[in-house]
This record gives sequence, C-alpha cells and structure tokens, in this order.
Amino acid sequence: KVVVLDFGSQYNQLITRRIREHGVYSELHSHRISADAIKEMNPSGIILSGGPHSVYDEQSFRCDPDIFELGIPVLGICYGMQLMASHFGGDVSKAANREYGKAEINLQSEPTLFQNTPTTQTVWMSHGDKVLEAPRSFRIDATSPSTPIAAMSDQDHRLYGVQFHPEVHHTDHGDTLLRQFVYNVCGCIGDWTIDNFIDMKVEEIRHQVGDRNVLCALSGGVDSSVVAALIHKAIGNQLTCIFVDHGLLRKNEAEDVTTTFSDDFDMNFIKIDAADRFLSKLENVTDPEQKRKIIGNEFIYVFDDEADKLTDIDFLAQGTLYTDVIESGTETAQTIKSHHNVGGLPEHMQFDLIEPLNTLFKDEVRELGLQLGLPETIVWRQPFPGPGLGIRVLGEVTREKLEIVRESDAILREEIAAAGLERDIWQYFTVLPDIRSVGVMGDVRTYDYTIGIRAVTSVDGMTSDWARIPWEILEKISTRLVNDVEQINRVVYDVTSKPPSTIEWE
Ligand code: XMP
Repeated sequence: KVVVLDFGSQYNQLITRRIREHGVYSELHSHRISADAIKEMNPSGIILSGGPHSVYDEQSFRCDPDIFELGIPVLGICYGMQLMASHFGGDVSKAANREYGKAEINLQSEPTLFQNTPTTQTVWMSHGDKVLEAPRSFRIDATSPSTPIAAMSDQDHRLYGVQFHPEVHHTDHGDTLLRQFVYNVCGCIGDWTIDNFIDMKVEEIRHQVGDRNVLCALSGGVDSSVVAALIHKAIGNQLTCIFVDHGLLRKNEAEDVTTTFSDDFDMNFIKIDAADRFLSKLENVTDPEQKRKIIGNEFIYVFDDEADKLTDIDFLAQGTLYTDVIESGTETAQTIKSHHNVGGLPEHMQFDLIEPLNTLFKDEVRELGLQLGLPETIVWRQPFPGPGLGIRVLGEVTREKLEIVRESDAILREEIAAAGLERDIWQYFTVLPDIRSVGVMGDVRTYDYTIGIRAVTSVDGMTSDWARIPWEILEKISTRLVNDVEQINRVVYDVTSKPPSTIEWE
C-alpha cells in the first residue's frame, strides 16, 4: 500500500485514485499522522501531497520529520517537495510570480521517475512558492524557465520531489511518473483489486466488532446497501438492518429492498411501515424546506424508536464515501458526516461508527456491490433524494398525488430502460406541479393534472444539462403517461440546465 499524506491540496484524492488505477492500494491520511503509525501500516511508499501553505509560515502544515528516516521511499508533490527541501536544508521562497497552468520542463539526464519519457514535456503547475536551492544530497532532475528546480531526487535515500502535479491529466507523463514511483521505486506489483479490499475489510470489521452487534439504516440506495452487504459478509447476523418505508419511495422499491436483504441475503432485517406517520406530519405543509425538515426529523424519530427496542447494539454502520469524508483534508476524516437520512442522531444514541466505504470512490463502491452479489438494480440505482417523492409532489403531499407521481415515474423508468438510455441519463423522474389544465379525451372535456418530466445528464449533480431524449421516445412516454395514469391530461418536458434551475423542482 502507498500512503498519501494530505496537506490540503484540492488534488489529493486524485493522487490516491491514480495509484489505485495502477493496481496499488492507496489511502489518504492526515499530515499529522506519526511516523510510528505509518511504520505500523508498513506501506511501500509515502506521497506528500500539495497544499495551500508556505513552508516558511509558522502555521503551515508539517509532518512528523521522522517519516523521512523510516527508509520508506517518499515522493513530495508541490508543497510536499517544498517541505522535503526545507527539511533537508534547501531553500524555499516565495516565487516572483505565481505559476498556474501548463509549463514545459526539461529533463536533466534521465531521472528515475522519468524513464522513457521525452526530454521536454508538458506539466501542470500550481504554486506560489518554489525551491530555489536543493538540499545538498539532492540532484536536480528537471527544470523549467520559471522554475529552475521542477524536480529533484536523492536516489540513495529514495526521496523524490516534483514541483508540478503528476496526478492531473494536463501533465502529459504524470501517469508514467506515478507508475514508476510505485512500481520501480516502491517495488509494488500492482495486484490490488476490489476482491482484496473485501478480504481486508472483512478482517478489519471482524476485528473491530468482535462479538458485539451492529445496526445499519438501510435506505435502498447504493451506499447503504453495499455497507450492509459487506458487514453482513463479515459478521452475519450480528448485523441488524432497519429499513424505514416512509411511503415516499418509488414503485416497488420497498418490496425490492425487502426481497434482496431479507430473503436473498437472509439478514436480520426490520422493515417499518411508517407511511401514515410521515403523511400525517406532512398534512397541510407546502414549503419545500419545511417538508424536507419534517421528513428528515421523522426519519430519525422512527429509527430511534425502533433502535430503542434493540438491546446490545454498539455500532452504527454508515455508507460514508471518500468524497464525503474529505472536503479540505483528512482533518475532517474523523468527524461524523451526517448521512442525509440519519443526520444528527439524538444524543442518547451513543454508537461507535463503522464506515467501511470511507476510502472508496463511487464507482469502486458499485464494483464492490456487484462483487458482493447485490443486484444491478440496486448497484446502478440513480440518485434518489432522502425526502423521496415528497419533494416531487409540489406543494402539499397527499396520497392521491403520490400515487400519480409514483405511477408516472414507473412508466418513465420503464420506457427509458426499454430505449436503453439508463446509463446515458444521470437522473430522470417525473414531478407533479400543482397545476390543472383543460383537455379533451374521448370527446369529453377533462380538467386534470399536468405532469413534468425531468431528465438530466451530469457528473456529480452539481451542474447538469437536460438530456436530449429522442422525440420518438418522448412521444411514447407522453402517450403512455396520459393513457395509463389517471388524472393526467398533459405532459411537459423540462428543458432547463442547472444552473439556473436545480435538478429537483423543489
Ligand atoms: P438539486 O435539486 O439541488 O439536486 O439540483 C442535486 C442532487 O441532489 C438530490 N437532492 C437531494 N438529496 N436530500 C437528498 O438526499 C435532499 O433533500 C435532496 N434534494 C436534492 C437530487 O435528487 C439531485 O440528485
């Protein structure tokens, strides 16, 4: 394994990501970790990430200096290289100009990490400081017009520094550089797969839990499902899952979750039908944020009531992912990221957290889910908000309106699947605005609801564009919606991107 120490760079997750792509397991840790702790992990290599600080500032992030004495190869990237330079007596100063963007470097001889790459190559720079003088035991490996020491190394002690960012795609041979570091310098063989991860985590979970018990709030989403499956593999029926059906789920969703976990996986599975409880709380409420709050709080109350009935629970499992953990560094790694469904548990619920996915990226979680035997319907489930259909019935939520949105959503999903567009469209659903309009069906005047179709392409939900669904498919969907769902006589397609709109209508 290769340990990446986090000094706050916006690219730090990308480093671990790239290393894993080379089949070598890699984890990000706080720069505060002690040399002893690292030694215990027995990594093959250490990477010091970039960061926003200046090494000569009092407040700047540092690492345990003994890390350089462990005999483990170290690669310093950007700030990491400056830190290394400063530790070994080099000179780091503010550069006259910040350098941001592409730059050309020239190699000096053929440095280890740059084998078989061109003498002149493009790299991505992003720094305000630079190393003006390398420490005495180091030699200069690459230079650029504005950064005379763009790369340096002390081959004898297997210490390497690069001023640029090999982890970003704009650095032409960055991938080769990281590969040479982990393979040639660290001696890794690149045999890490998600299967190794399962074995490793199963061992860890068994060790952590012992003969105690774990509780998991299952939502049916990818993350909580994979967590449940993984923990179940490790400790079997020492795990209990609580699934709260708030009556705001999509068609057949509650049944599918129950079949998968209760029947197929044979887990301790508690399903709570809380639809009445949620709907009565939502009566006469029209404001979206208030609806969200009510649904979120109610979820916790229901979960709490149920958990209270269980004795001997010591751990709460959560599907926190890597991207949730690290915002501005692993400084935050140990704080509890509130799952949107289990956010802010009441004080009296004192559990230790188990978050076995917190070093994985979303696509790795999906792969893990498939390996653990979860069905594709769960593993590839499109994002679905915690408040569910509660925010897709605009305004007051009633049973009747929920039924309309649920039925229409099911038809939309069927047709998108039939057209083979499931993986192309990031999220797609119907919304029921509080609008009625006039229509005519079978010579009879109707005065019924309009249904909206929302379908977007996106990478992470932060921005999105409306999906260009072919006309013929939209036509088919529209016809089915009006024919098969009672009380719908008009269909509209949302053609706004985000921004200025949001993906959901509420
Ligand atoms: P918006 O509507 O903000 O949505 O563009 C971005 C993504 O977040 C989902 N979303 C939510 N997820 N609780 C959630 O768990 C919520 O209250 C919530 N609101 C929006 C939305 O479905 C989309 O994927």
